[in-house]
Amino acid sequence: MTDLSRRISFALIGFGRFGKHHANILNHHPNVTVDAICETDPIAFQQAKNEFPDAKIYKEPLNMLQEIEVDAVTVVSPEDTHAEIVLAALNSGLHVFCEKPLATKLSDAKHLANLALERKLKLRVGYILRYEPRHRVLKQHISSYKLGELARIRAKRDISRSWFEAYGYRVHSAYETLIHDIDLILWLSQQRCQSVSAWGGYLLGYEVPETLVMVLEMDKGTICTLESSWLLPSGTPANIFGWEDSSDAGKGVVDATLEVIGTKGSGFLKTYEPSLTINDATGSYNPDLAFWPQIDGRTAGALREEIWDFVQELIGESHAQVDSLDDSIHVQEICEAAIESEKSGKKINIT
Ligand SMILES: NC(=O)c1ccc[n+]([C@@H]2O[C@H](COP(=O)([O-])OP(=O)(O)OC[C@H]3O[C@@H](n4cnc5c(N)ncnc54)[C@H](O)[C@@H]3O)[C@@H](O)[C@H]2O)c1
Repeated sequence: MTDLSRRISFALIGFGRFGKHHANILNHHPNVTVDAICETDPIAFQQAKNEFPDAKIYKEPLNMLQEIEVDAVTVVSPEDTHAEIVLAALNSGLHVFCEKPLATKLSDAKHLANLALERKLKLRVGYILRYEPRHRVLKQHISSYKLGELARIRAKRDISRSWFEAYGYRVHSAYETLIHDIDLILWLSQQRCQSVSAWGGYLLGYEVPETLVMVLEMDKGTICTLESSWLLPSGTPANIFGWEDSSDAGKGVVDATLEVIGTKGSGFLKTYEPSLTINDATGSYNPDLAFWPQIDGRTAGALREEIWDFVQELIGESHAQVDSLDDSIHVQEICEAAIESEKSGKKINIT
């Protein structure tokens, strides 16, 4: 039984599309209070004030981290802000849950991981797929050798073009989309990556590619192919929505599949199952039921599983133990190698 007298005080940084889900999930945990929120945008700042009247709301993360006395922080600000914020949080003695990526430079990510270990602080990176039941069942089948030796892993993650134009361009797509698939490959295969080859497409004219293809050679022989394109047209039936069902903001699609081929069997996972179809005046859509569905004002699904699991660890209760800081660093190594390969046209070996 969880000890309900054990309180964990949280701060949250970034009350945007995903941060609102984090805040909702933490707020509904019986052992957690959300005592501080930092948000730079004036509209979102006011929303945080209205929705969390008992929390202190800040505009600047480093000031907030110096002032507040909390146990942990969840970092849900844009990708390129993570490294500096996580560094300040660890230096303030806080446990950290950081949305992916941990950093956009490998050297920063390594430094943060070492600091967390040195200070005996928990540092988790938001790899949500490790907490989703179908991925967990697939992992069990692989671990119990039901599929034999893994020969191939194929991963696809296609995303709405409108999202690329709204925010996807702000970081290299290795860090935005395929990072999830790289992490899955490390977790499912329990192998290290030896080499990375990557190709990018720049048809939309941004500084980062909207299309990315990677080949990873793993150390026990599995060959992995990963691909992502942020080009799904607006007519594709949506499966992800903005905050609150009534809002069309953020409406779009993730079309992702994962295929594992072994010497004794294979597995195929369609990540967003269109099992619920709604038809209305806006068209047909398939609301997500697995990752962060909103039900009666509460965010549920794998995101709740993931964040509550972090809280379980903080209060000293049993937890899934599927997170791995070592893998998080190796993911960053692979992303950095992919970007180098994509730019240089060369295969990059990872030593
Ligand atoms: N695990 C997943 O499946 C998943 C899904 C969506 C987003 N994410 C990650 O969550 C993070 C946030 O993504 P999002 O889609 O919510 O982005 P967003 O742009 O909607 O939200 C970010 C918020 O942070 C605020 N902000 C910007 N700089 C800040 C700073 N220095 N301090 C405090 N607040 C700041 C912005 O005003 C904005 O409200 C990203 O790292 C993203 O990759 C992960």
